[in-house]
Amino acid sequence: MSEMTVTPWEVKGEIDYNRLIEEFGLNLINEKLEAKLKKYLGDNLFLRRKIFFVHRDLDFILNEFEKGNKFYLYTGRGPSGHTHIGHLIPWIFTKQLQDAFKTKLIFQLTDDEKFLFSDKLSIEEVENFTKENILDIIAVGFDPENTEIYTDLVNSKTLYKQAVRVAKKITFSTTKAVFGFNNSTNVGKIFFTSMQAVPAFIESVKQNKNIPCLIPHAIDQDAHFRIARDILPKLGYYKPASIQCQFIPGLTGSGKMSASDPNSTVYTTDSEKDIEKKIKKAFTGGRETIEEQKKLGGNPDICPIFKYYFFLFEKDDKKLEDRFKACKTGKLMCGECKLQLIPRIQKFIKEHQKKREKAKEIFNEFIVKD
Ligand code: TRP
Repeated sequence: MSEMTVTPWEVKGEIDYNRLIEEFGLNLINEKLEAKLKKYLGDNLFLRRKIFFVHRDLDFILNEFEKGNKFYLYTGRGPSGHTHIGHLIPWIFTKQLQDAFKTKLIFQLTDDEKFLFSDKLSIEEVENFTKENILDIIAVGFDPENTEIYTDLVNSKTLYKQAVRVAKKITFSTTKAVFGFNNSTNVGKIFFTSMQAVPAFIESVKQNKNIPCLIPHAIDQDAHFRIARDILPKLGYYKPASIQCQFIPGLTGSGKMSASDPNSTVYTTDSEKDIEKKIKKAFTGGRETIEEQKKLGGNPDICPIFKYYFFLFEKDDKKLEDRFKACKTGKLMCGECKLQLIPRIQKFIKEHQKKREKAKEIFNEFIVKD
């Protein structure tokens, strides 16, 4: 088994979620909490399948909501490349939360981060991906009346003023302990976590009262918010709460889908042909030969193709289970399973691309001008 790495900027190896829960000190979303969420969300695929599976202070958020103390949502994107299907999962869930609770959403684009943490990307390249990514964010269907998109380098006037308040309370020792930084780390990286903390209290600053904040995000971002949870109360704000999801695995093997390996991901900008090629080439849980697979069955548990069905492309639990069993018992071959998946992804991406075009017309409604 390959060694696991899960930091906000690198995810690789076989992900052991139980170990992460323990190391990070996260809470599982138990039945009671899930039931409470479902009162507002209705039946939800991402919760039912435990794709969103851990949290911090979600119970606090819901209790306050029931008392009439409404929270706002905050999530973000580091614009290091085009958007892929893995990114859309937390965004789709965030939209469902926004619709269910009728809340404000703050979306942060961390162009500064992607410049500071990359050996290759220029500021101009990151700026281009920021524009491209914003189209995908808008295409997910967030409410334009209730959504604000901040970009760190563009909205530095608002964000930097708050980030220095956070930075003043974070020591170099803390960032070393949490992120493994050392004396050769560039100083921008050391500062950056302060920028990612700001949207977790910016509404409280703007409205001049303390407002709870819930952050839906993939589990790799937890480190930033562990620090934010430590610092924000010192500035007089609530600890930000979170609801966190797993990664959709890469098509070329395990781990998170990485935007740096184009074959391991389906981008929102891919053509039908690209999608077909990538899925056909993908790694599976299948055997060496058809004969062997018929005799011994495949292994859906390690198969990214099966995971695609699980995360997004088979919403019917019974049909998903049938597929699982057919694979295990050697009745369903990988080639066929892939051929059934290709049109589903193509349809999904095509619809997304239409919304992405429309997003250009309403782009400005989402952008914060400061
Ligand atoms: N650092 C994140 C990334 O690299 C982007 C981000 C900023 C974010 N704020 C966030 C992600 C809040 C989730 C929630 O993708």
